[in-house]
Amino acid sequence: MNKTQAWIARENQYCAQNYYPIEVVLAKGKDVWLWDIKGKRYLDMMSAYSAVSFGHSNVRLIKVLKEQSETLCVTSRAFHVNMLAPFLEKLCTLSGMDMALPMNTGVEAVETAIKAARRWGYEKKGIPDNQAQIIVAKNNFHGRTLSVISFSSEAAYKAHFGPLTPGFVEIPFGDVAALKKAITPKTCAFLVEPIQGEAGIQIPPPGWLRACQECCNDNNVLFILDEVQSGLGRTGKMFAFEHEAVKPDGLILGKALGGGILPVSVFLARKEVMEGFTPGSHGSTFGGNPLAARIGLEVLTMLETEDYIARSRILGEELLQALQALKQDCIVEVRGKGLWVGVEIDTQKVSARKVCQALMHQGVLSKEAHESVIRFSPPFTIDSQTLQWAVAQFSKALDIACKHS
Ligand SMILES: Cc1ncc(COP(=O)(O)O)c(C=O)c1O
Repeated sequence: MNKTQAWIARENQYCAQNYYPIEVVLAKGKDVWLWDIKGKRYLDMMSAYSAVSFGHSNVRLIKVLKEQSETLCVTSRAFHVNMLAPFLEKLCTLSGMDMALPMNTGVEAVETAIKAARRWGYEKKGIPDNQAQIIVAKNNFHGRTLSVISFSSEAAYKAHFGPLTPGFVEIPFGDVAALKKAITPKTCAFLVEPIQGEAGIQIPPPGWLRACQECCNDNNVLFILDEVQSGLGRTGKMFAFEHEAVKPDGLILGKALGGGILPVSVFLARKEVMEGFTPGSHGSTFGGNPLAARIGLEVLTMLETEDYIARSRILGEELLQALQALKQDCIVEVRGKGLWVGVEIDTQKVSARKVCQALMHQGVLSKEAHESVIRFSPPFTIDSQTLQWAVAQFSKALDIACKHS
């Protein structure tokens, strides 16, 4: 057994097998680069599922982390803290929302959105108690808590975890007629990702989001966007909803909000929606803690004042074009927005997992989304030359993986 295998075996002995990681053991990270325990360097084309948008151990964020961690870290919301208002105020200003409820992980913010939507449904819309319905899209991914997997289309996410939470109705992604048809007087919200990330970077038809917003407005249904992955510059705009100039009633953010350092998430909404929360109706010991708020504020300031979003847009276009120019016949489609690109491959020829494994040997890290898509979502700090190098390695990895299939 070599050193890598020994570390993997040890981890497997003690860690639940709820993931299927690529066979590399990482020990260090700096900006777009990661190093394994043997000192081999890899390019990070995955950014922890888009959480590391500013590169590993970003200097500006680490400075702030150090300062705030020496000042005040965690108090719980049993008390007011001076870091929370500036953070949430900036979030509201940037997103056009009235109020925010801070959480930690993405799925907690999704749960928060579901609770807010149901309360609004009962208290403002007048839906009879315990009968509220939320419409969701097929192949969605919103996280892994019991309520959230209850409306997943993936049988494997739900098997033997029942009884599941009722009150969710599924429609096809990208189909506004289906949304119209699914709405009933008991519908309180439509919850959707503007671009489906874990489903393999699925981009809906142009105009769909706008049509959904209009449909929701016309029917007194909340339009809630899960931008945990698509938000904060990933698609080349601050929020993916800006591509269609829509205005959601509720917005969920996470991942990059923690600067690749801490879990920081938030549910934002109109005042009328957030008013449903009263003392004791929801909470989190760590949500909105001063350290998380300080990092979150710095992340937002960096996105607002530096060129990260423009880089995502321009370099994303370059990445898309370079991948689309590849001639390998196992590639079915290349699609993306900003520095968030998926390459769909023909699984009859090779599996995405095999390609990612071969890519790792070429010094580039990424991970499959489902069986057929290889995702590329590097930190926004990557440069053009490194991107082109990554595409060349991907091309070689495809050849190697196809040859051995
Ligand atoms: C759109 C979306 N929502 C929610 C989540 C869940 O976030 P977390 O893993 O931080 O709970 C994810 C994670 O990939 C996601 O992509």
